[in-house]
Amino acid sequence: MTANISVVILAAGQGTRMRSDRPKVLHPLAGRPILAHVIDSAENLGADQICVVYGHGGNLVQAAFADKDVTWVEQKPQRGTGHAAQQALPAIKSGNIVLVLPGDVPLVNSATLERLLNKAGDDRLTVLTVELDDPSGYGRIIRNADGQIQAIVEEKDASPEQRAIREVNTGLLACPVNQLSAWLEKLQTNNVQGEYYLTDIVSLAVDDGLRVETVAAKSETEVMGINDKIQLAQAERAYQKRLANELMARGVGILDPARIDIRGSLICGKDVVLDINTVFEGVVELGDGVTIGPNSVIRNTRIASGTQVYENCVLDGATVGENCEIGPFARLRPEANLKKNVHVGNFVEIKKSTIGAGSKLNHLTYMGDAIIGTDVNVGAGTIACNYDGAYKHQTLIGDKVFIGSGVELVAPVEIGSGATIGAGSTISKSAPPGELSLERAKQVVIRGWKRPRKTTDKGN
Ligand code: UD1
Ligand code: CA
Repeated sequence: MTANISVVILAAGQGTRMRSDRPKVLHPLAGRPILAHVIDSAENLGADQICVVYGHGGNLVQAAFADKDVTWVEQKPQRGTGHAAQQALPAIKSGNIVLVLPGDVPLVNSATLERLLNKAGDDRLTVLTVELDDPSGYGRIIRNADGQIQAIVEEKDASPEQRAIREVNTGLLACPVNQLSAWLEKLQTNNVQGEYYLTDIVSLAVDDGLRVETVAAKSETEVMGINDKIQLAQAERAYQKRLANELMARGVGILDPARIDIRGSLICGKDVVLDINTVFEGVVELGDGVTIGPNSVIRNTRIASGTQVYENCVLDGATVGENCEIGPFARLRPEANLKKNVHVGNFVEIKKSTIGAGSKLNHLTYMGDAIIGTDVNVGAGTIACNYDGAYKHQTLIGDKVFIGSGVELVAPVEIGSGATIGAGSTISKSAPPGELSLERAKQVVIRGWKRPRKTTDKGN
């Protein structure tokens, strides 16, 4: 292979079979648009240029990739894959080899792309094919008696004999741009769908006496096209399985690789264990020995070594120190910053707060806009009243503070180090260090008081 590579991604189709208002290539696979995965593959190849043909829902597609260094080419109306490739031609550098990537085939391994490109050249057309147990929906590869590829026939145009062929077109191909240009000009729409089929360039190349090569993909899943929601779900599972296998190969314990979802990047230390139904989104980092209990969602969060997250927790935008215990049923929201050895128990919500080392918030608490020192004990049902309806205010709690149960801390408020707050208090003035502060009405006893009774009650 001598020439440079120009990648052309075909992403203009409507995706009718998705039955959705959203352009097909923007449907998420592992939390990112299908097209993002295809652009990633193109970028990883170090291509000379990447050209994306867009059309249906065009503005949305471009907006989703505003930060990408790609050439956008509009196809309007959308008259088939051949017509789409035609629109890209003026943008392609002459002398380059064009690698066509369908925008709806997102899981291709880089090794497969390399094999395809290694077999591509200035003097030939190279097509990536695959053998499928169930070839339905794909274009069939027609070969002559010598096994030479002659044509690709779309399923809708195929005879019953042709439909029985299990070798299919993956939609990926490579050829020199000048040849492509000549073939595309010759395309006709005399097929069942009345479209310009890119696949017809194979028979045109054969007519020209040019070499046409095929490269076989190694697995079915890497070349599966996503045309409907069923295939989208199948691709999602296949991709998740691949990610889970990669993690397990690196030593991560995954109790059931069929029940994990990674929608972003997950970086794990040694001896990490992930229980079932764990969802990771954005950038998540887990230190050595971290365990994540079942049914937890962890998004854009860093967890240091030795920390245990028990079942049913949601961590979003949090930073968690070493050897903490989180949950069950805890919720850490953005900018929750836990130092080491912190315990956060059930039905505790923490937002934009720093919790000092060794502090414990074990039950039914809301802590927002707070800075808590070390070794603080926050009793059950404590609430930082951080919002006055217009502004958010801060709660400052010193080291070794003990807060009894059912306390309301009306911010802005400061609790001095070593202070004790009596249960049930509503604290709206600062509490001095080392002292007991208490706000509580006197208890009264009404002697002889009777509970109300329904008149029908017999009483006994
Ligand atoms: C296509 C191939 C088929 C192959 C299959 C592999 C053709 C005619 N058929 O069929 O041989 O087995 O892919 O997955 O090429 N697109 C445009 N503009 C258009 C039409 C389509 O950009 O006018 C884009 C689509 O957005 C999509 C890709 O091209 O990303 C493939 O189009 P699609 O309609 O899904 O083709 P298939 O029927 O799957
Ligand atoms: Ca398709």
